[in-house]
Amino acid sequence: MEKYYCTTAIDYVNGAPHIGHAYEKILTDVINRHYSQRADIAFMLTGTDEHGIKIQKTSASNGMTPKELCDTNAQKFKDAWKALGIDYTRFIRTTDENHERVVQKIFKKLVEKGDIYKHSYTGLYCSGCECFLNEKDLTEDGLCPDHMKKPELVEEENYFFKLTKYKDAIIKHIKTNPDFIVPSFRANEVINQLEDIQDISVSRAKSNVSWGIDVLDDPEQVIYVWIDALSNYITAIGYDVDSQTDEFKKLWPVDVHVIGKDILKFHSIYWIAILMALELPLPKHIFAHGWITIDETKMSKSLGNVVSPTSVLESFNLEYPDAFRYYMASAAPCGKDGNYSDDDFKEKVNAHLANSMGNLLNRTLSMLVKYFDGEIKSEFKKVSPLYDKSLETVKAVKHHFDYFEIQEAAQKIMELVDAANKYVTDSAPWTLAKEGKMEECGTVLNTVLEVMCVISSLIYPYCPNIARLMSDQLSYDINTKLDNITCNNIKPGKLISKDEIKPVFLRVDSEFADKGKK
Ligand code: MSP
Repeated sequence: MEKYYCTTAIDYVNGAPHIGHAYEKILTDVINRHYSQRADIAFMLTGTDEHGIKIQKTSASNGMTPKELCDTNAQKFKDAWKALGIDYTRFIRTTDENHERVVQKIFKKLVEKGDIYKHSYTGLYCSGCECFLNEKDLTEDGLCPDHMKKPELVEEENYFFKLTKYKDAIIKHIKTNPDFIVPSFRANEVINQLEDIQDISVSRAKSNVSWGIDVLDDPEQVIYVWIDALSNYITAIGYDVDSQTDEFKKLWPVDVHVIGKDILKFHSIYWIAILMALELPLPKHIFAHGWITIDETKMSKSLGNVVSPTSVLESFNLEYPDAFRYYMASAAPCGKDGNYSDDDFKEKVNAHLANSMGNLLNRTLSMLVKYFDGEIKSEFKKVSPLYDKSLETVKAVKHHFDYFEIQEAAQKIMELVDAANKYVTDSAPWTLAKEGKMEECGTVLNTVLEVMCVISSLIYPYCPNIARLMSDQLSYDINTKLDNITCNNIKPGKLISKDEIKPVFLRVDSEFADKGKK
């Protein structure tokens, strides 16, 4: 595989990042790190969405300019992603000068093409969604169902994009590419939405929304936030309407846009139509993940249950973000909603990462030191059932990632950990040693250590720091590509001495969490 290009949604900067934003960035980072083990280049784009009425209003009520609010909050997102080990390749802000310039050119090109036209319009605008809503989308009380707020009646002369022109082509594309929208059950929803699709307003009057990118040659209008925001996926990598950088040519089309289920319509309809209008190839996949609740409750400012991702690291006194990453990435089956709770977090990471995985490495290495002074003898063998299972697991994990089944892939890895634990218990190397069956004892340890190399590679996207601690103790090259894993890493000779053995993950203590809450 030559390249893998993945993107996240870009977050609104009217507040600080919360655990829902973090869920998506972790999922995408895990996907990107997995493909870095398969492709020559893995490129992850993330960033912030900084224009629109919401930012304009929030900054005004905070006594700041919109740019000041954006600068302050964009930094909070960057800091949070750093703390969570999100290893993005590029971070785009929609206030970046290059982005603004290219968006203006994209808009102009579509006007020249006749795909954007001017039209007087009356509509109901929800600033929470940053979009116009139809009457039929509202609750019985006339509220936006997502934000439970009354949309504003807006009468404006706006530019409109001819979405209807692309309707049939989009339906055809979705129907002929069953893996385009992931999970596939969402494709029908999109097709239903397409049935009664109208042309969409793609600008706002500057008198109503001033914080946006100006329409070239029409200073009274600013470009609608979604056209601005969606274009980030191409402007960030060097698309420039009449010229394209080598990087763009290499990376586009994107392999996957990772987004929340609430913004699927914008990506699978609006964005696809824009790309068709620009005559660009379409994304390979759009992966719509579910939503994260807190203690089974929807997060909301009014309930006061908005959880900051870095507060979890702090309250559990975590040295590395790995446990939180592992928990979040495996919080929900592909496309379904998931939940965060302190108790479940503690229970799961202690069971999986400390008791099962970390302990297995620790006690196997300790036995190697105890019985063989840390040396792998040339007569030790590697036995096949477990060894075969580890290679099968590599295949299964790859397969799950190809379908964005990130929780399911993690389960496969833990099944391999469990199988290795069972093998150790069943073969009882301590009894073999007591009985003087040293070759058999060494064979058990050698086999498990070989499997641990595979496990460190597979767990790396979720837990990069733990994986490095594991691979260092195994003298295993963590940069091994998944296709080159051979189960032939542990070689005869001295592997480790007593003082080099370190636990890779210490149990998370509830005391820390309780202190953090106080
Ligand atoms: N700015 C737009 C996206 C533009 S993409 C070209 C936006 N921003 S957002 O800040 O509201 O949301 C950013 C991402 O976070 C979206 O994919 C959204 O689905 C996701 N999430 C926001 N809250 C969430 C949860 N509680 N759980 C999981 N993801 C959620 O939409």
